[in-house]
Amino acid sequence: MPDPGPGGIVARKRRHLEVCLEEDVDFQTRTTGLEDVEVPYLALPDLHRDEVDLGVSVLGRALAGPFLIGAMTGGEQLGGRINRTLAEAAQRCGVGFMLGSQRVMLERPETTTSFAVRDLAPDALLVGNLGLAQFVAGYGLDEAERAVHAVGADALAIHCNPLQEAVQGGDVDFRGARDHLADLAGRLSVPLVVKEVGHGIGRRAARELRGLPLGAVDVAGAGGTSWARVEQFVRHGRVARPDIAEIGVPTARALVEVASELPDVPRIASGGIRTGTDAARALLLGASAVAVARPLLAPALEGADAVVAWIEAFLDELRTAMFAAGAADVAAMQRLGLGTRAPVLP
Ligand SMILES: Cc1cc2nc3c(=O)[nH]c(=O)nc-3n(C[C@H](O)[C@H](O)[C@H](O)COP(=O)(O)O)c2cc1C
Repeated sequence: MPDPGPGGIVARKRRHLEVCLEEDVDFQTRTTGLEDVEVPYLALPDLHRDEVDLGVSVLGRALAGPFLIGAMTGGEQLGGRINRTLAEAAQRCGVGFMLGSQRVMLERPETTTSFAVRDLAPDALLVGNLGLAQFVAGYGLDEAERAVHAVGADALAIHCNPLQEAVQGGDVDFRGARDHLADLAGRLSVPLVVKEVGHGIGRRAARELRGLPLGAVDVAGAGGTSWARVEQFVRHGRVARPDIAEIGVPTARALVEVASELPDVPRIASGGIRTGTDAARALLLGASAVAVARPLLAPALEGADAVVAWIEAFLDELRTAMFAAGAADVAAMQRLGLGTRAPVLP
């Protein structure tokens, strides 16, 4: 299928939002694997629950909790409204915010306002977003810097999504992918984050990234939103090929594999992170923070108060899980996990 062109991108983004709100787009037979990670329980914690410190530093910014709003949208009116709501919530909660793909902004500069949220989130960690396929097709440092500077981003995420593109009938040339990332990582003015979109960065992808000066890897593993399902709904109105939509590296496995291949690169856990207890398990597997995307879409339509309430309840549950484990801070929780990482290894 030929590229739909910029007008097509805007319409498709709108369909993505509708499908993600209305259809069952979760993995059907695969889970994140996080449910197999036991949260250690300590009946005698020498700790007051209120003392548990959720603060972390991610990509050079201090966060009130190890949480980022995952990359979702921008480019059309509804997307712009959602971005502004999410940005306000990120600022109020002291968490990070990842914008959706800014490709549409580069190709239709009049859509820039739908990504411009810095005024609402002056202190939040803000992460820009572009797709690796666009770099294979000709984008370079110039486009990356334009995306960063137009929104005042602290970092730029590049999404690597071959399965999504193939199911969508989109850009399927990923040849030379590593070289494009290496070129960017060495020269970009802000840290580079490499992410998937829900099918996971596993061991072999992590090996390709070895030696690159990355700010973080967001594993975006399988077990939450399946983009190979979303794209089938968008293209055919139904999931004609359910098996292909179940492909991916589950989030727990992805975390362990990326940690073993890239021990010095901070990992963001995402893909099916739904509860504060999921976040506790991700920290046990060595994540620096988690990111949540689709569950925040419906609250974002309600308004910033609903998003803030969702994030606060999530972080409250994480606080309880850490208290019950006897972990006074995120580093202590990560250390407790050192003994629990083996069970999810192959
Ligand atoms: C409506 C929607 C739009 C998305 N758009 C993007 C995008 O533009 N760029 C990107 O890197 N990821 C995008 N994603 C993928 C998410 O960032 C995330 O990796 C994926 O949905 C898995 O997380 P989840 O299970 O919490 O939804 C999108 C997700 C949703 C729900």
